[in-house]
Parts: sequence; C-alpha cells; structure tokens
Amino acid sequence: MRISVAIDGPAGAGKSTIAKIVAKNFNLMYINTGSMYRAVTLKSVEANIEPEDIQKVLKIVDNMEMHFENDELILNGENINDKITTPEISNKVSAYASIKEVRAKLVLLMQEMSKKYDVIMDGRDIGTVVLKDATHKFFLTASPEERAERRYKELINKGLEVNYEEILKDIIRRDYLDTNREADPLRKAEDAIEIDTTGLNIQEVVDNICKHIK
Ligand code: DC
Repeated sequence: MRISVAIDGPAGAGKSTIAKIVAKNFNLMYINTGSMYRAVTLKSVEANIEPEDIQKVLKIVDNMEMHFENDELILNGENINDKITTPEISNKVSAYASIKEVRAKLVLLMQEMSKKYDVIMDGRDIGTVVLKDATHKFFLTASPEERAERRYKELINKGLEVNYEEILKDIIRRDYLDTNREADPLRKAEDAIEIDTTGLNIQEVVDNICKHIK
C-alpha cells in the first residue's frame, strides 16, 4: 500500500520545512502544492492575465508541465523556485488559488502524483480534498506573529529587503482569504492530528510527526 502524508495549515506554520525532513526520514516524495498555485500565478502575471479572466488562466494551466525534483517544482523544464517565492507572487497568489476550475485541474495532477509515488504533500486542502484517504494527516498551526517572524527571517536570509509589519499584515490577510474562500477553504480534516508549533523548534515538530507515522 502507498504511504501518503497530508500536512495542512496556514501560511508560515512551518509545513514545508517540516515536510522536507519527514520526507527524507521515510523516503517520501515531497510535493509542495502551494508552489503549484504560485506557478500558475507567475505565468499568469507574466502574461498579464488577471484572475477574473478564468478561461485564459485555464489555458495557462493546460500548458504547464509540473513535476518535483529535490523538493522543488520544475515547470516546463525550469526550476522556478526563486521566481515564485517573491513578495509580489505571495501577494497575488490567493486570487488565482481561489479559482475553482484551476483548483480542479491542479488537484487532479496532485492525485496522479500520489498514485505514482509515496508522497508527503503540504497545502491547505490536502487532508480534506486532495488526499481524503491519506494514511496520515496533520494540521500545523502557529500564532500569526510567530509565522510572520519566521517568514521575515527566511526572506532576509535570501537577501530580500522586507518589512515585518507588512509580512504580518499579508499573513493575516491570506489567513482570511484561505479560510473564507468558497472553493476548498483551509480547514482541519476531522481525522487530522493538530499540532500548535508556536514555541516549538523544528526538531520537536518533526519528532512528533515521525512518532505518529512509525
Ligand atoms: O503554502 P503557500 O504560501 O506557498 O501557498 C500559496 C497559496 O496557495 C496560498 O495563498 C494558499 C494557496 N494554496 C491552496 O489554496 N491550496 C493548497 N493546497 C496550497 C496552497
């Protein structure tokens, strides 16, 4: 039987950092589903296509070949990791990720990946929609202030000039949009284990998750 691990939670809860380590421990393929929505946003922005123009956005999606190598998304043969983690894309992604037709297409791609490989996927709707039958489900949370602090440090370490207050505002805005959108909103699956990571270090969260998977 295939192993599938779902990790959901709000922006900045530590999902990707934790998922990458757990992936190594259990030899799973790490699928960062947020990066797929970010890729759709990047390509749409590059082509000057607004999220209201759903048909054009869908055409963009149909011309995207996406797979993961070494934890990073490869889009049409190019590693676009640096281009999709900018504040501009973070600001715009919620609008594209709330298009239900886009979600339907990406969810299918994610489900295909989970049939081919043992996966650990992180996102907002993995336990509730994408991998309803996941063998393991986790829901990570942390206070907005702690999540903003983590994202701030991550971007500063990348050499970007960013402002903490703006990141906090963006996190609160995205929490609201992710939780209140009509299509596949962020929520904890009934059978997911909830872990509040506020004040916990990465190893403590990893140990907790690994204990449950074992
Ligand atoms: O995890 P992230 O910040 O990279 O996600 C980017 C955006 O994509 C975020 O605003 C929510 C959305 N998203 C989603 O709607 N469903 C997912 N499974 C993953 C991300």
